[in-house]
Amino acid sequence: MNEKDSRVIVALDYPQQSQALNLVDRLDPSLCRLKVGKEMFTRFGPAFVEALRRRGYDLFLDLKFHDIPNTVAAACDVAADLEVWMMNLHASGGRRMMEAARDRLEARPNRPLLVAVTILTSLSSEDIAEVGFSGEPAENVLRLAELTRRSGLDGVVCSPREARDLRQRIGEDFYLVTPGVRPKSAAQDDQRRVMTPGEAIRSGSSYLVVGRPVTGAEDPLQALQSINAEIAGSR
Ligand code: C5P
Repeated sequence: MNEKDSRVIVALDYPQQSQALNLVDRLDPSLCRLKVGKEMFTRFGPAFVEALRRRGYDLFLDLKFHDIPNTVAAACDVAADLEVWMMNLHASGGRRMMEAARDRLEARPNRPLLVAVTILTSLSSEDIAEVGFSGEPAENVLRLAELTRRSGLDGVVCSPREARDLRQRIGEDFYLVTPGVRPKSAAQDDQRRVMTPGEAIRSGSSYLVVGRPVTGAEDPLQALQSINAEIAGSR
């Protein structure tokens, strides 16, 4: 398997940089990509991103930007200077914000992929009603995913439970990036409604974000390889 075939993004959520680098040095950049989120980026910054890139990994910078269009476009441009493979923002920032970010990235050679978060999966029906959204979370996910597509972005982050419906309604040429994935043998941790890697891929996921089933495994490389094998067997 080469880098382009890998559908797994390993989420690095550690308080210490050394823990993340120890884990990464036991994996292989041809078998996965890596996700750096708010906790590690806020603490360790661009130098950490660079340390991972130097090891040959494609990176998803998961900072979920949400601000006025000019500010988000500038933040995306600076994030692209870090030569990450993928970055994200909140679709609820609106069409002008998403288009500004896309336009700024499109002005660059080899631009990173830009995907949007629709409705955070942590939000219940009551939560979204309280912030003033009408309808069920699933209706809002679909509406915001369609807005994301019309704004020219590359895809959305979504629950694997939403993937089948989104894939059917939005079509093939749109990335669905799904956390909440657990191999059958792994613990669910604090994830509530999980799917196995094979189920997620069959539902239309493009990339699977997997954290603890790999980072917490006794043999992380073996755990990653078995997820890759399950994905390969499900196509
Ligand atoms: O360890 P685990 O596989 O649960 O990690 C999943 C990763 O995906 C974490 O970085 C988590 O913050 C992120 N994530 C998630 N569910 C969402 C969005 C992001 O688990 N709805």
